[in-house]
Amino acid sequence: MSEPRKILVTSALPYANGSIHLGHMLEYIQTDMWVRFQKHRGNQCIYVCADDAHGSAIMLRAEKEGITPEQLIANVQAEHSADFAEFLVDFDNFHSTHAEENRELSSQIYLKLRDAGHIATRSITQYFDPEKKMFLADRFIKGTCPKCGTEDQYGDNCEKCGATYAPTDLKDPKSAISGATPVLKDSQHFFFKLPDFQEMLQTWTRSGTLQDAVANKIAEWLDAGLQQWDISRDAPYFGFEIPGEPGKYFYVWLDAPIGYMASFKNLCDRKPELDFDAFWNKDSTAELYHFIGKDIVNFHALFWPAMLEGAGLRKPTGINVHGYLTVNGQKMSKSRGTFIKARTYLDHLSPEYLRYYYAAKLGRGVDDLDLNLEDFVQKVNSDLVGKVVNIASRCAGFIHKGNAGVLVAGNAAPELTEAFLAAAPSIAEAYEARDFARAMREIMGLADRANAWIADKAPWSLNKQEGKQEEVQAICALGINLFRQLVIFLKPVLPLLAADAEAFLNVAPLTWNDHATLLSNHQLNEFKPLMTRIDPVKVQAMTDASKEDLTASATDTGDAVPAGNGELAKDPLSPEIEFDAFAAVDLRVALIVKAEHVEGADKLLRLTLDIGDEQRNVFSGIKSAYPDPSKLDGRLTMMIANLKPRKMKFGISEGMVMAAGPGGEEIYLLSPDSGAKPGQRIK
Ligand code: MSP
Ligand code: ZN
Repeated sequence: MSEPRKILVTSALPYANGSIHLGHMLEYIQTDMWVRFQKHRGNQCIYVCADDAHGSAIMLRAEKEGITPEQLIANVQAEHSADFAEFLVDFDNFHSTHAEENRELSSQIYLKLRDAGHIATRSITQYFDPEKKMFLADRFIKGTCPKCGTEDQYGDNCEKCGATYAPTDLKDPKSAISGATPVLKDSQHFFFKLPDFQEMLQTWTRSGTLQDAVANKIAEWLDAGLQQWDISRDAPYFGFEIPGEPGKYFYVWLDAPIGYMASFKNLCDRKPELDFDAFWNKDSTAELYHFIGKDIVNFHALFWPAMLEGAGLRKPTGINVHGYLTVNGQKMSKSRGTFIKARTYLDHLSPEYLRYYYAAKLGRGVDDLDLNLEDFVQKVNSDLVGKVVNIASRCAGFIHKGNAGVLVAGNAAPELTEAFLAAAPSIAEAYEARDFARAMREIMGLADRANAWIADKAPWSLNKQEGKQEEVQAICALGINLFRQLVIFLKPVLPLLAADAEAFLNVAPLTWNDHATLLSNHQLNEFKPLMTRIDPVKVQAMTDASKEDLTASATDTGDAVPAGNGELAKDPLSPEIEFDAFAAVDLRVALIVKAEHVEGADKLLRLTLDIGDEQRNVFSGIKSAYPDPSKLDGRLTMMIANLKPRKMKFGISEGMVMAAGPGGEEIYLLSPDSGAKPGQRIK
């Protein structure tokens, strides 16, 4: 046996200003299944998380509710913890970023970075709310679009015409918090010198730490050149004061990832057998994985490893990125009742249905995952109830009635048990690679074989015949053993089903290695139904209740103050837009006159495009799919012709071509049907 691995795992820290919804749950369930798999296999695996408690959004929300930020984050932490526990997400520790351990670690790391020369300071000019006496982040400024004149537009882009601009370009700017007219004001800011780590990041992001599609995206950012990162905010701010800099606070995204360490530190302080340094020192041999959504890749795959490197600490072994959840093929929507909170789901349905459905659809890529509610009902009922649980319920009765609940010794179908044994390594590999969909497919394939075998043997008919009792017992004993194997394979996904099955089987908690043995001459306990079918009426009730949530509380997201603390748009999926915004996009058929490599760029091709009356120069990150660019010469594609020209390291890019696919070799340039002419508008 090889030594058990030492693994530390995190999920992204949920913001402490809103409820957990089924989109978040995709991440926590994915991570939990992986962690449970590691533990099942006998590895030391520790799973920590915390609430992300800092930032102005939390400060303002507390103010609006008339409570202190501390009260708000305590309330939310209680709510989050209960949601996670009921979804069977089994953290070893769930902490908060607003905690002493985090203050200490953040200060230490900052001071290390500063002393090593990685912190710069300079003055920046920003809008300031003279009434609230605070600087305003872009999303807290409203005004009239400088381009089309639409009123009431937030921050730096217009929802109506799609224009992007600096907040200082807005006409008639107002503070979204107080309504006051903001004034421009200077202030000293602290910057983390990310460019110091360009070379390290170039290597690290290509060293197997990232999925290909993510590494490709990062390569584009690296090609474009890194910028210093503004890590300070002025008072009033809910966060940690920067050591030695009164009135200056760490920006929430500085101390948020350090919250992973703080949560682990808090756990270590309670568990003397855990050695904090052994996991975080530069020479640590422990593995470290962060599970995150695709919207926060820059923080985890650029800023965070650079901070760790600069502070003399170890870097992550892997950043595991997942896509976004859609429901019924669309972005979760409050009005359609598909913006489903964790709690609303739990009020109507069992957590294991969703855990299984997510597992059945989660591959190792970054594609979005669709929760199709009809498919959900159908798949769970057919796989879990119809295939897995069915085996036990078909066999248990005969054993209880015919043999006092004792499994007879023997093996009625060695070819089947051998097939189950032979499948185990491949199922384990799929789990290890986070290809839960493949693991589930293989497990259900085994369940199909077991059911087909039992159906063929038909113990229910044999049982009516004279002298067939022994055969019935042999068939059913094997049926129960095959059921036990399936439960072992499914345990990381379905821990409750596994616990109930262990009670029925009258066995100690099952571990992965138990799959290699069979129960014989073994007393079973009474059989109770292990899982019931999903009633579609309950799914309907859940979506109805989600529509009610909408009227009951307007405080959750995106109302008076947009949710989220990140500076980037929090949601990479497109929000719904007005027709006018769509109509403002100038889509054209474009002829690729020439496609060529760009000296010094890993990802980019330079395209010369003909759109009828003019030629455009466009840089496009499609090289991985079109290693021989000359093959594109003369081909028609589609482009966005009125995109603001973008200055890149290699020149100016005047538009964008349209392609589909996850990235890497899988990028598919779109083409019109033959007959389309360069320059024609796409409507
Ligand atoms: N607080 C930050 C993370 C800090 S980590 C040091 C944050 N919080 S969040 O609450 O907005 O998101 C938490 C996690 O949930 C993120 O990984 C995010 O990508 C994920 N998801 C949020 N909405 C999601 C979907 N609709 N679908 C899938 N994952 C989603 O970001
Ligand atoms: Zn506009």
